[in-house]
Amino acid sequence: SLTALALVLLSYLLGSVSFAVVVSRIMGLQDPRTFGSKNPGATNVLRTGNKTAAALTLLGDAVKGWLAVFVAAYAARQLDLPAVAVAACAVAVFLGHVFPVFLKFKGGKGVATALGVLLALNPWLALATVGTWLIVVYVTRYSSLASIIAAIFAPLYYLLGGNVAWELEPPIALAIVIISVVLLFRHGANISRLITGKESRIGGRKP
Ligand code: G3P
Repeated sequence: SLTALALVLLSYLLGSVSFAVVVSRIMGLQDPRTFGSKNPGATNVLRTGNKTAAALTLLGDAVKGWLAVFVAAYAARQLDLPAVAVAACAVAVFLGHVFPVFLKFKGGKGVATALGVLLALNPWLALATVGTWLIVVYVTRYSSLASIIAAIFAPLYYLLGGNVAWELEPPIALAIVIISVVLLFRHGANISRLITGKESRIGGRKP
């Protein structure tokens, strides 16, 4: 439907707002695309040493993911749109972050935005995924490795809890798989650095 299409487009545009770039600009910090991993994301903003800026980036990028799916799910209930419309908005807001129209399609890796999406889909799913991320970060201090492991587990959690803790909807399952696969591909440089021992750790020395 036209409504669903409009929601998908709006989700993509919302996803395209990179809070790493916006927050850094407002707070007078160096553009995160010019140092560290060059990634416009919370982890790289943290490499400036400004924890507030990193937290605001994480929050902003997560809230946009949450908002897009929350609005889509609300509209779906009100207007009787199919689950595929919600799934498309979930993928769209994520792809907006990764391929933002406002930044010549050079965006982030989508970790915070994916988290916001999961939170809107189901809080328990988000909790399990965040828990996984936190455990890996706590043990290894690698933000990227935590994101990689969490991205592998998120679709499994969705399938495991499906029809037990929540209703399993195939379009939503597919959306989570697509998001996870793209997220993993975005971590190619991180995977190389992890293998060669060159990846920077959270709270560690210079990258
Ligand atoms: O926030 C994305 C994280 O998984 C890795 O970020 O800057 O270390 O490539 P970064």
